[in-house]
Amino acid sequence: MKKIVVLSGAGVSAESGIKTFRDSGGLWEGHDVMDVASPEGWAKDRELVLNFYNERRKNALSASPNKGHQIIAELENQFKVTVITQNVDNLHEKAGSSNVIHLHGELFKSRSTVDPNLIYDMDGWELNIGDKCEKGSQLRPHIVWFGEMVPMMEVAVEETLSADIFIVIGTSLQVYPAAGLLEYVKESNPKFIIDPNMPEVFPRPNLFLIEEVGSAGMKKVREIILKEYV
Ligand code: OAD
Repeated sequence: MKKIVVLSGAGVSAESGIKTFRDSGGLWEGHDVMDVASPEGWAKDRELVLNFYNERRKNALSASPNKGHQIIAELENQFKVTVITQNVDNLHEKAGSSNVIHLHGELFKSRSTVDPNLIYDMDGWELNIGDKCEKGSQLRPHIVWFGEMVPMMEVAVEETLSADIFIVIGTSLQVYPAAGLLEYVKESNPKFIIDPNMPEVFPRPNLFLIEEVGSAGMKKVREIILKEYV
């Protein structure tokens, strides 16, 4: 079975009603990104940060996967598929993708502030001041904030190196190290980029630019790969 690696960003969830980052004018739901997505923001106002992610969680709970997520999940019938996502929502999993790497963390997990290995699943949407880990420290969102390490990056690079087909969907490719993954794909292997507002990418062999929204773009890409690469 050939292996597909998908790198997804906020755009894949746009048709599910979740706003992208850069389409919201530098502000994230009315907040400066550094206030809600950085260790400095957390140190300054924990309640603001917790409330911000509580709102994101509520929003994600009511969202459903769209055709783009679904086609990616269905590709598991013909291919070995790894999804590397920059998204913190769980829509790839809800659509049925079985191998999802979350580069920037997960909304529905919380983490200890004294021991990063203590990670907990969350059922509902609320994480509040006073919610503690088993060692007695405040829980924080299990999200990779600006300025923090990206612990899953090494795994993501390994996966990308062994991709036969690489699909980029719905990311502005502005945030590193995620954006650099494209460089690890073998030159001779096909790479597709799906985005209605194509990010600038360095031209390279076997690069196919599909200027469409996620659902329409995935339909096209599925058609091409089923015809040419199964
Ligand atoms: P961006 O908001 O930077 O980019 C979203 C991309 O999706 C843009 O290129 C849009 O043109 C495209 N897009 C919009 N609507 C779409 C649709 N219906 N279908 C497909 N594509 C669509 O989001 P990311 O690239 O994911 O990091 O952002 C990367 C990281 O920056 C995020 O993970 C987050 C953010 O700050 C952290 O939180 C650490």
